[in-house]
Amino acid sequence: MKYGIIADIHSNLEALKSVLKALKDKGVDEYICAGDIVGYGADPEVCMQIVREVCNVTVAGNHDHGAIGLLNLDYFNPEAKKAILWTEEQLNEEERTYLKNLELIQKAGDSLVVHATPLSPQEWNYINSTFTANQNFKEFEEKVCFVGHSHIPVVFSMDIDEGRCKYAFDTKIHIADGQRYIINVGSVGQPRDKNPLASFAVYDTGTSEVEIYRVEYDVETAQKKIIDAGLPRGLAFRLSSGV
Ligand SMILES: [Fe+2]
Repeated sequence: MKYGIIADIHSNLEALKSVLKALKDKGVDEYICAGDIVGYGADPEVCMQIVREVCNVTVAGNHDHGAIGLLNLDYFNPEAKKAILWTEEQLNEEERTYLKNLELIQKAGDSLVVHATPLSPQEWNYINSTFTANQNFKEFEEKVCFVGHSHIPVVFSMDIDEGRCKYAFDTKIHIADGQRYIINVGSVGQPRDKNPLASFAVYDTGTSEVEIYRVEYDVETAQKKIIDAGLPRGLAFRLSSGV
């Protein structure tokens, strides 16, 4: 089975379309979305519609909750907050219900999927160190957990016998015996690792390999739509440099 894993789309339709084309070309069987479909970008409704049609498993992100009043907007920085308020106005009742009904954490085959952390998904903390990864490995049993949230692709692995945790920015990961993994697949619609290309992952259970890919998309159109919608211009500019 080949899983395509996407996260942090953030209403960026141009990036989503490029990523889905790449996943189709790679012969993916099932699609997983690790949250944050909306927020920041100018196409919340179309992105949501596509994710609903394509993804077999989808979990909620903090921006998805913010856009329907399930998360206090004080949590967000001023630009993110403006985009969430704008997004809220775009959504109809049916779309709000869809976001509201998304689970925070779900199984997908033998793997686990959560936007932020298995330890406390509703607190929207980050797994950004071996310390936080280690805390989280104790909270789930699956061999692999896919996450999003930081918009930075990274792999945390734990040696089951030694309990030792390490991290790597490898883009090709062999899922080895005796190891467990927390894999951040990076962001489709707003990468922040100084690489503006859209990020996504493929998990091939046949070869036991996870590969993180980057793909070009029409950044200029996504930027123009953000500016035309009256969203903060900084949200458009940052897409050029991947920050
Ligand atoms: Fe996000």
